[in-house]
Formats: sequence, C-alpha cells, structure tokens
Amino acid sequence: MIGRLNHVAIAVKDLAASTALYRDTLGAKVSAPLPQPAHGVTVVFVELPNTKVELLEPLGEASPIAKFLERNADGGIHHICYEVEDILAARDQLKAQGARVLGDGEPKIGAHGKPVLFLHPKDFNGTLVELEQV
Ligand code: CO
Repeated sequence: MIGRLNHVAIAVKDLAASTALYRDTLGAKVSAPLPQPAHGVTVVFVELPNTKVELLEPLGEASPIAKFLERNADGGIHHICYEVEDILAARDQLKAQGARVLGDGEPKIGAHGKPVLFLHPKDFNGTLVELEQV
C-alpha cells in the first residue's frame, strides 16, 4: 500500500537556526521559509536526493506542534509521510485492520496541496504517520 517516503518532518523551535544547521553544517539545499497559516506552521523544505526533510516551526497560537515542542525542548521528529496512490482506499483498508485515523477521518489538503491523512501514533510504533496521495 505505502510507496515512497515523501518526507520526514522535524519540529523545531528556531527555524532560522535549524535551517542554518542543515544548510551550513550538513550542506543541504534548503528552501526559503514558507508560512502556512492554515496548518499552524512555517516550513523550510530540505531537498535531499531521495526524499525531503521538512523543518516545522510553530506559527500562531493554536499550532499543532506547540505541545510537541513543550515535551521535546530540543525539537524532534514529529511525523513521517508515506505516499499512497489512493488515499481513500488506503484509509478504508487501514480502518478495516483496526488502525485509527485522526480527526474526522476525511482527507485534508496538506502542506503540498495534496490530500493527506494522519494515523494514530499508538498504532504505529509511537510514530505519527502521514499518508499523502500523490
Ligand atoms: Co508532513
């Protein structure tokens, strides 16, 4: 069902410092910061040859990553995103196997303008999993 690893998302407190770390220390190609108010984050895309890393900094009062950063003061891996060809078929298959889909279970338009769903971390080894239809 799942295909390529689309991205690994890392929550950070200081986006400028984290961008510099990836650009200058690790020598990666990084994007300009992209505020995404609808998602409560500002994102920098780190382009790797085979996938992406997304650095997420909280934006606004109700950011979905604010609590995560309270628990993880140094930042940390927030979720991983796998590609699927048909998100509704993937959802229905996962639900039939007992996996919990977060929210109302309907795909939302994600940070890349494509339909996404999130799966409960307790059902996936303590890892928040995002599925993105490509
Ligand atoms: Co993501």
